[in-house]
Amino acid sequence: MSDRPVLVFDSGIGGLSVLREARVIMPGRRFVYVADDAGFPYGAWEEGKLSARIVAVFSDLIARHDPAMTLIACNTASTIVLSALRAAYPAMPFVGTVPAIKPAAERTRSGLVSVLATPGTVKRQYTRDLIRDYADKVHVRLVGSENLAGLAETYMRRGFVDEAAVAAEIAPCFVDHEGQQTDIVVLACTHFPFLVNRMRKMAPWPVDWIDPAEAIARRALAIAETLEGGEALPDARDQVVFTSGAPEYALQRLMHGFGLTVA
Ligand code: DGL
Repeated sequence: MSDRPVLVFDSGIGGLSVLREARVIMPGRRFVYVADDAGFPYGAWEEGKLSARIVAVFSDLIARHDPAMTLIACNTASTIVLSALRAAYPAMPFVGTVPAIKPAAERTRSGLVSVLATPGTVKRQYTRDLIRDYADKVHVRLVGSENLAGLAETYMRRGFVDEAAVAAEIAPCFVDHEGQQTDIVVLACTHFPFLVNRMRKMAPWPVDWIDPAEAIARRALAIAETLEGGEALPDARDQVVFTSGAPEYALQRLMHGFGLTVA
């Protein structure tokens, strides 16, 4: 029986927000989680360099783990590297993560939506095209946060979060214009759902926070169903790969907490 895993890839802990949904709806699958912690944070990388790095990292990952499919659980990577990955590894199905601008545009009542992402995702042509194609009747504010992904890493590893810093990072999302207020904030970085309760607490008024993890997992399931085999063997363990090869102890503990053993 084929036991080829589903690979879930991110720069750090963010993809765990997608992995937990993927496990719920694909309980029969084995997963290999990859944290490109040697490349974290992705937000400030120059596009060409980041794309080349990720394509190169995949050569080794595919050779070692022979995944049945791959989920790029990172907006910053997906918005630039998906086509390069598909061209380099044509036999591998890739599912990406892109800002949930379309559902936000469909749901907003006030017509004011904010997209909270890394500075990289905010700059991408891909993100601007999504707004042009799906949100032309809506006012979309793009907010590139320098520090939230790092704050989420600290929170998940050490349980500490600087709430004043969270408040400062999310403040530009809140627009109050001609009697209308922002009513939806799209979490366009997979790290951010881990801080959403703090964001709720520090928000100037209540909004709907869109976490696309479940939608991404459903898309992955639809593709997994088209593949042959892939059922996990009874004693199969989900694994984690760190590209640094030497993650700090707190990060290893966190991964153990998610039921992942170091590959
Ligand atoms: N988790 C990543 C994303 O979804 C990026 C975090 C980072 O490396 O800055 O965009």
